Amino acid sequence: MTTASGPDSVIAVTTGTGVGGRLRSPEAETEMTGVLGFGGYVPDRVMTNADWAEVVDTTDEWITTRTGIKERRFAADDEATLDLAAHAAERAMQDAGIGPADIGEIIVATDTPEVYTPDTASFLQHRLGCGNVPAYDLGGSGCAGFVQGLDVARARIAFAPRNVLVVGVELISRLISWKERETCVLFGDGAGAVVLGPDAGHAELLDVVAGTDGSMTGILTLSTGGTRDPFTIETAKSGAHQHLEMNGREVFKQAVTRMSAAVLEVLDRVDRSVADVALVVPHQANKRIIDAVTRRLGVDDGVTFVNVDYFGNTGSASVPLGLWQAREQGRVANGDLVILTAFGAGFHWAAAAIQF
Ligand SMILES: CC(C)(COP(=O)(O)OP(=O)(O)OC[C@H]1O[C@@H](n2cnc3c(N)ncnc32)[C@H](O)[C@@H]1OP(=O)(O)O)[C@@H](O)C(=O)NCCC(=O)NCCS
Repeated sequence: MTTASGPDSVIAVTTGTGVGGRLRSPEAETEMTGVLGFGGYVPDRVMTNADWAEVVDTTDEWITTRTGIKERRFAADDEATLDLAAHAAERAMQDAGIGPADIGEIIVATDTPEVYTPDTASFLQHRLGCGNVPAYDLGGSGCAGFVQGLDVARARIAFAPRNVLVVGVELISRLISWKERETCVLFGDGAGAVVLGPDAGHAELLDVVAGTDGSMTGILTLSTGGTRDPFTIETAKSGAHQHLEMNGREVFKQAVTRMSAAVLEVLDRVDRSVADVALVVPHQANKRIIDAVTRRLGVDDGVTFVNVDYFGNTGSASVPLGLWQAREQGRVANGDLVILTAFGAGFHWAAAAIQF
């Protein structure tokens, strides 16, 4: 066995250690991606619109009419990103009926990591007690990161069957400005997770589509803190490191167009139509965006899952959290076709088709 540094080297090394339980040779390629388990977690602390009105110049009426958000959850002072991720991951593993030794790879989608480096996935691997399996973050992918992670995971499973834990987690409340009313009222903290694998589970991940328009990096960006504009005492004093630049109207327009188109594209790929869809779980950024996507797709209101009123925009956690909650609430039955769709800073978009 070689340990060459090509794309296959991770597989070669981990196969040799026998960790991850489900690793087999690339010859054993599979078309099946099962969704074995679902998990979600939100912190206990509730921050209502009235609470925000005591911090910035806003009202419940403005936030409700513009976004549909009534409240959101914020992490406790002693919680960090890893804690949220671990709770959701443990629930997903429990739902899958597997233990940490059965996880063969970990992908964490987050823009609000545990620390700057190394990635949250490394911390999560150790916290859960998994083997020394590949673990990495999809960072900076905005709110589309989790669905993009599904796309990566299914390719990895097809290449060499193993169980992949995919987590979307965000602890946004600690990293954005509490002074900028244009953005601070929109977000909440949370985590969601799934375990994917080569076996039939609760559902099958039929297909995923994803895309990026890199000409639109400027419409949603937190640009201070990288090499272009490093973090300094001056930026800290001015609060620039917490300043989320957002062209709300352009983001709104792109979100509706891209999420709707991604849904139609993934349906086309799996040879199904909008009429076949039992539930759409869109990224929960704004109720008006969700309503516009619902109208554009021509589905009934009840087909589109909404929890933005209670959780706000939880970034990469939003879609897996919604999926987990929908299933917990009995909104998903065997035989249902469920479509996930998301957008985020990048500008990224993605959609996935799941058959229960
Ligand atoms: C941000 C968003 C809610 C703003 O809604 P909108 O209908 O475009 O808002 P409007 O442009 O009509 O209103 C803006 C006005 O409200 C004010 N405003 C902004 N935030 C406010 C708040 N929290 N409370 C009260 N007033 C506020 C602005 O200062 C501005 O005032 P002005 O007209 O006097 O300049 C909406 O554009 C949006 O949701 N866009 C998508 C954002 C998103 O999804 N981001 C996350 C991506 S993952």
